[in-house]
Amino acid sequence: MSKIYQVAVLVGSLRKDSINRKVAMTLATLAPPSLALQVLEIGDLPLYNEDIDHTPPQAYTDFRQQLGAADAVLFVTPEYNRSVPAVLKNAIDVGSRPYGASSWAKKPGAVISVSPGAIGGFGANHHLRQSLVFLNVPCMQSPEAYVGNAGHLFDDTGKLAEGSRPFLQGFIDGYAHWVEQVLKP
Ligand code: FNR
Repeated sequence: MSKIYQVAVLVGSLRKDSINRKVAMTLATLAPPSLALQVLEIGDLPLYNEDIDHTPPQAYTDFRQQLGAADAVLFVTPEYNRSVPAVLKNAIDVGSRPYGASSWAKKPGAVISVSPGAIGGFGANHHLRQSLVFLNVPCMQSPEAYVGNAGHLFDDTGKLAEGSRPFLQGFIDGYAHWVEQVLKP
């Protein structure tokens, strides 16, 4: 049987009706059988503080273990003030420590940004990619994914607009190929 890669999905919004979370859940259903996507919750992580990390809070330890156990990482994020929402940056910082034992390193990644605005979270997408370079996360270059005008991506029942399905399918298929390429022995 071929390998199934475990993908930790980080969603950069805590909002109950988050469009980004809906996109993350949709990608989980569209993913090919080689990927198993699971959202890693980041809303309860205390704000990163080196002082408290001498005796790490249980939430830090649990998050690092769950992230460490994943084969790959997928980011689905809105843009806040042309950058990454603080909750997502906080999770990135927590996962990057203790120094020398980052949980991110070498996990193949991808970024999809989603916004009701016209430019699809381009600023957040690329600020995030800057951190991923430093964290040694090999990030899929193409297809890029800046989903703009996303206010109507889902109808009132949560159903995806049919016209957007091929794009999301292409993105997750491309990512499956990337994960395979980076991790294959
Ligand atoms: C935003 N929003 C936003 N949108 C955008 O395209 N560029 C931006 O720089 C910002 N800045 C921003 C800052 C803050 C503090 C908030 C709360 C919102 C709007 C944002 O894209 C919108 O609220 C999305 O719906 C958030 O994604 P979720 O929660 O629907 O996944």
